[in-house]
Amino acid sequence: MIKIDTLTVQFGGIKPLDDLDAQFVAPICGLIGPNGAGKTTLLNVLSGFVRPTKGAILLNNALLLGLSPRRRVSLGLRRTFQQELVVDELTAMENVQAIADHVSRDRAVARREVGLALDFVGLSDRRNTLGRQLNLFERRMVEIAKTLIGRPTVILMDEPGAGLNESETERLRRLLVEIPSKFNTQLVLIDHDADLIASVCIETLVLDFGKRLAMGPTRAVLNDPVVRRAYLGRE
Ligand SMILES: Nc1ncnc2c1ncn2[C@@H]1O[C@H](COP(=O)(O)OP(=O)(O)OP(=O)(O)O)[C@@H](O)[C@H]1O
Ligand SMILES: [Mg+2]
Repeated sequence: MIKIDTLTVQFGGIKPLDDLDAQFVAPICGLIGPNGAGKTTLLNVLSGFVRPTKGAILLNNALLLGLSPRRRVSLGLRRTFQQELVVDELTAMENVQAIADHVSRDRAVARREVGLALDFVGLSDRRNTLGRQLNLFERRMVEIAKTLIGRPTVILMDEPGAGLNESETERLRRLLVEIPSKFNTQLVLIDHDADLIASVCIETLVLDFGKRLAMGPTRAVLNDPVVRRAYLGRE
């Protein structure tokens, strides 16, 4: 569970997050809002890449803000990036193995975890293919496999569905819904695809100009007239 308390981030005159209070409790939570709403900034604060000017964050019962990104990884925090980070010159397996080398102490456990993660995302047959030969969907799957290594407690995903076609989005959807129970972890998902959010996220937070526009059960949030006017109406 993630608890966000009066969180503010300021870059010069811009406040990407402005006195934000929210809680992510459900196994899969959505994070939506228009371009520039502060979604990625929130992930950056959670993972330790951006320091807020004010506020606090709790991951389960640990205060996160004083901890380095590395320490947060050791508490089980994982994320994917809006711009994916698959290494072209490494194979699919080596990309995932690189994370395992980082977070798992036991080599045998690490090898098993890499195999399980690749299998789960459907990349077992492509394990020896170089990153640069993988298509967009396969690269996305490598990114997701990386987050599953080393007993994650919370996985933050920044637009894993961006640019995928309809059948790929459906494959992604089926994968995402299985992650919490299979890996005993919580998932927080940013996406602009309201159908994807509606079909996988139990609760959703809507940001607008760094503020909480709505939070609650996804269906109710997506039907909220304020949300429709501010966000969905702009699509
Ligand atoms: N390092 C930075 N320095 C200055 N401004 C920044 C920085 N990072 C983000 N911003 C600004 O903060 C605001 C929120 O950006 P953020 O990337 O969090 O939005 P987002 O909701 O993820 O948008 P998108 O849907 O386009 O990915 C934007 O106005 C952005 O220009
Ligand atoms: Mg973003």
